[in-house]
Amino acid sequence: MHTKLLSTLLALGLFMTSYIDAAQVKTNIKKQSFGKTTDETPVDLYILTNRTGAEAAITNYGGIVVWLKVPDRKGKLGDVVLGYDSLDGYINDKAYLGALIGRYGNRIGHGKFTLDGLTYTLPQNNGENTLHGGIKGFNKQVWQAEEMPNPNGVALRLHYLSKDGEEGFPGNLSVQVLYTWTNQNELKIEYSAASDKTTVLNLTQHSYFNLAGAGNGNVLQHQLTLHSDRFTAIDSALIPTGEIRGVQRTPFDFRTPVAMGARIDDNDQQLKYGLGYDHNWVLESGKSDAPLLAAQVYEPQSGRTLEAWTTEPGIQFYSGNFLDGIRGKAGKIYHRRDAFCLETQHYPDSPNHPNFPSTVLKPGEHYHSITIYKFSVQ
Ligand code: GLA
Repeated sequence: MHTKLLSTLLALGLFMTSYIDAAQVKTNIKKQSFGKTTDETPVDLYILTNRTGAEAAITNYGGIVVWLKVPDRKGKLGDVVLGYDSLDGYINDKAYLGALIGRYGNRIGHGKFTLDGLTYTLPQNNGENTLHGGIKGFNKQVWQAEEMPNPNGVALRLHYLSKDGEEGFPGNLSVQVLYTWTNQNELKIEYSAASDKTTVLNLTQHSYFNLAGAGNGNVLQHQLTLHSDRFTAIDSALIPTGEIRGVQRTPFDFRTPVAMGARIDDNDQQLKYGLGYDHNWVLESGKSDAPLLAAQVYEPQSGRTLEAWTTEPGIQFYSGNFLDGIRGKAGKIYHRRDAFCLETQHYPDSPNHPNFPSTVLKPGEHYHSITIYKFSVQ
């Protein structure tokens, strides 16, 4: 081809690209009322729209992700997280749909742990254990919200001060969560915290995903890859026994993509205890400051994919085993295994397992952790 013609075409191509860019949606945050809590505290919903028009809606009640609208293979937006239409749904929720979890994600055995010779007793809200921070965890608190400028998307900063003794945990704990919804359809969650007393901390996010769309059936055909060769074995109450077990030749081997449902009902003691998958996989990420790829999910019908990146040393793959006919958004009913969670975390019950990576946070230390959920199509 004639070089002049080629350079003209290239220039035109560049021009067209920037033209398309300029024609794309302007990133924006729309703030609207989401109602009032039972004690009359007003709560807002923040709708974050990125340059492609994809949306992440977050409320400062529980830091909950209310919807995530991302394109399928044909470019059609669909909501891929479970949730409720109104604040009341979240106030009454017992499944932690979409919520920030603290102070301690997952379980603490017998609701007890010892720090510096002192034993702390927590409310037991899951049999005799403490689950997801206790009776009124971070998922039921109202956070202060602030819209943040961001060059590569839209960001919302949430802040919560958890008082010394709240739900039995020591220390005044200042927690910040920065949600960024990037122009690449990544939900980046950056956690920071500091305490004025030695405490334990394990923050996570409890979005329930269904890449075919929330309420559009079960997730058993979703193909999962988990970049991990070990998991923490559990007892019948879902508390780690302390054993870190290899995944090879077990239904826990997701090192190459396998449908979530392919082995979920296998005759396996660990699956029986979890009523399906509800286990913590061991990641190498704990050794890195930058997030590493922990998991990938592909949904064949829609073509949507999800990648989970994290700096955390563990990830809980939960196959929605306890979903029991919850009435969710647009009146859709969420049944058992209609969604999955990939909760990035330190291992469950770490305060009672000295061989697990430590969850202790001391005064003067800075807690920092990053997780990214990246949506795309294949
Ligand atoms: C986590 C737990 C599950 C369940 C859900 C919430 O994933 O590991 O056992 O409690 O939260 O229902």
